Amino acid sequence: MNICVTGGAGYIGSFIVRRLCELEHRVTVVDDLSKGHMEAVDPRAHFIQADCGDKRAMAELLAGRRIEAVVHMAASSLVGESVTAPAKYYRNNLIASLSLLDAMAEAKVSRLVFSSSAAVYGEPERQPIAEDAATVPINPYGRTKLLFEQALPDFAAAYGLGAVCLRYFNVAGALPDGTLGEDHNPESHLIPLVFQAALGLRKSITIFGDDYPTPDGTCIRDYIHVLDLADAHVLAIEAAEAGQVAAFNLGNGDGFSVRQVIESAQRVVGRPIPTEIGPRRPGDPPVLVASSEKIASQLGWDPARGDIEMILDDAWAFHQSHPKGY
Ligand SMILES: NC(=O)c1ccc[n+]([C@@H]2O[C@H](COP(=O)([O-])OP(=O)(O)OC[C@H]3O[C@@H](n4cnc5c(N)ncnc54)[C@H](O)[C@@H]3O)[C@@H](O)[C@H]2O)c1
Repeated sequence: MNICVTGGAGYIGSFIVRRLCELEHRVTVVDDLSKGHMEAVDPRAHFIQADCGDKRAMAELLAGRRIEAVVHMAASSLVGESVTAPAKYYRNNLIASLSLLDAMAEAKVSRLVFSSSAAVYGEPERQPIAEDAATVPINPYGRTKLLFEQALPDFAAAYGLGAVCLRYFNVAGALPDGTLGEDHNPESHLIPLVFQAALGLRKSITIFGDDYPTPDGTCIRDYIHVLDLADAHVLAIEAAEAGQVAAFNLGNGDGFSVRQVIESAQRVVGRPIPTEIGPRRPGDPPVLVASSEKIASQLGWDPARGDIEMILDDAWAFHQSHPKGY
């Protein structure tokens, strides 16, 4: 299939592109390199540096390259920044994404897989979270993801779009050989920060709040290996059905506290990692754990690398070989 991946030079996008190339799809990456890395783009893919919100350029590209499906991963995704600079988030995650849908309609591309987020749920009362839980995002980042999801049924009805929204929980891990991994700048995710502290690149790792109503007082999250996530995208592309919109959670259904992740990371690196306790961050729910039963039962998703030690082992391989990133 001819597949366009927006944000394909980013952390998760680079793994999706690699997997699609392995399966011999013809992949076009569109990334403006505002955050991504050329080094992470699979050389088998065709790379175009562009803003995916440029409707004219995208319509021409989609038609010219006979694109059959779009995996839309390009976004701004720092929750804290979305609170202080919401205009950037509404522009990049909502307006640019709607322009992309417009270009897809013009170029008659009817399959879309969208990178959504657990952030659409906000602070759910019940765990694990199923897809029919209330969507009440608590920050602009989550709201932009939800608003885009909510536009999709109108495009499905009017233009026959078939869209699958994948709501990721905490994505982590790397290629086991350490050649491809997570390099955000600034980094806001726990696992890379823990390994940066282990490598002495940071003084310590800050635990934001140790007085939550959880067994050890720290927040609990659900970690999913980026390779398992890539497999889910392949299933989602196949499942995108003209005129239909579906949403699936992607997590492992297991929660690990911040302290548990740090303890496991210490076992992986074989030495203590300095920690300090900081204040709670506003809008950090105590527990976020996914039910991914829907994607398992409907699309046959079967994660192979869900074990937290495996996720940490692989991430450590990347951070050791790329201590300062790509
Ligand atoms: N990392 C996670 O744990 C996580 C969790 C939930 C959802 N997500 C979503 O997954 C997607 C990928 O996340 P990531 O961690 O790989 O982020 P990332 O920042 O590494 O990748 C995003 C890529 O998109 C590019 N980009 C941004 N705006 C663009 C635009 N207008 N046009 C073209 N390219 C643009 C950036 O240069 C970057 O390469 C995002 O949509 C994010 O919101 C990530």
